[in-house]
Amino acid sequence: MDPYLRDVLDLLFRLLHVVAGIAWIGASFYFIKLDLKLRAPRDPRDEEQGVGGEYWGVHGGGFYHTQKYRIAPRELPEPLHWFKWQAYTTWLSGFALLVVLYYTDAQTRLVDPAVADISTTVAIAVSVGVLVLGWLVYDALCRTVGARSEGLLAVLVFGLVAAASYALCALLAPRAAFLTVGAMLGTIMAANVFFVIIPAQRELVRAKQQGREPDPAPGKRGKQRSVHNNYLTLPVVFTMLAGHFAFTWTHDRPWLVLVASMALTAFVRHFFNELHAGRRPVWILAVAGVAAIGLALWLKPEEAVSTAAPVSDARAAAIAQGRCASCHMGGSAPLGVRLDSLEGLRAHAAGVARLVSSGAMPPGNATGMTDEERAQLVAWARSR
Ligand code: HEC
Repeated sequence: MDPYLRDVLDLLFRLLHVVAGIAWIGASFYFIKLDLKLRAPRDPRDEEQGVGGEYWGVHGGGFYHTQKYRIAPRELPEPLHWFKWQAYTTWLSGFALLVVLYYTDAQTRLVDPAVADISTTVAIAVSVGVLVLGWLVYDALCRTVGARSEGLLAVLVFGLVAAASYALCALLAPRAAFLTVGAMLGTIMAANVFFVIIPAQRELVRAKQQGREPDPAPGKRGKQRSVHNNYLTLPVVFTMLAGHFAFTWTHDRPWLVLVASMALTAFVRHFFNELHAGRRPVWILAVAGVAAIGLALWLKPEEAVSTAAPVSDARAAAIAQGRCASCHMGGSAPLGVRLDSLEGLRAHAAGVARLVSSGAMPPGNATGMTDEERAQLVAWARSR
């Protein structure tokens, strides 16, 4: 794909993805909090009408009074607002980004011969396959185990995510593996909305229209999936941001870093849900804080081998010319980072030092940089 076209599509889809994602996650946080804060209605007449709980809020210069019915109101209200396009748009734009950034440039972004020497076709098949398989396994677990035990379901879903992380980090470039695990969870979330939550709501509405008493079971299943989605939001956002932080995926055991970070972020989400339910489990924040510091210490990159002699400008420029400039030159250089001249190299010295020492650049060592060249370029960039 033409690099400029890729940049333009990247920006457009990313903008759409982030905005739709904010709207979706915002709605998820809001409704989960709402549910946890519901109190029995004060007016007994509301109770008789089938109201199960109510919520008062103040926002944007006014008071809001929200009521939740135990199942449905007597009359089907008009207009009735749905929440689904935020989810669908987030998934569609996210998948488009995956295609534009990773699948059409699979050789540099998806495959890392140092991890597994697979073809681009196999790599793309693995990535797409995981999105589909992840949903099928998760959904089957919810329908079987999930109907009986939430606790056991949580353990099994965690096992599924850990297995996917392990397998993907053994097959794909680590950065792509992180993103694919996130995409798998995002797919589960969007599919929850599309295949379970919205159909349950449609069934409620249909029952009302036909004058039947609605069956509460589909609604309960929908609610269970909503809660799962809520717990998955922070792990997914972590995987989406981690790509920008090479120290998270250039570690020896990237899958373990990924699993630990996702567990930690889900745990933090649990703190907020507990808080909304009126409890104050400060210990969760304390444990998460200590774990985050522990992770940061564990992930601190080792110093690159230091070189005895100072590295000359000419030597640094020659290394960059040979190992970086094939991508980082001309108007289509990634992120405008041009490394085909000494001036360009000087301007980006800090980024060069960070990304070359961590092994993030060149991606998958596409240009076959030697350890000595790496040490020399880092030493030069650090002395700027
Ligand atoms: C195979 C192509 C390729 C090669 C070779 C390559 N890069 Fe990159 N580089 C990229 C891409 C693609 C990006 C943009 C990454 C992104 O979108 O986050 C990038 C980004 C960067 C950035 C900016 C990162 C940021 O987030 O600001 C720096 C600095 C960098 N590369 C340095 C280097 C150095 C130094 C070398 C040589 C040792 C090198 N690159 C070799 C493709 C390459």
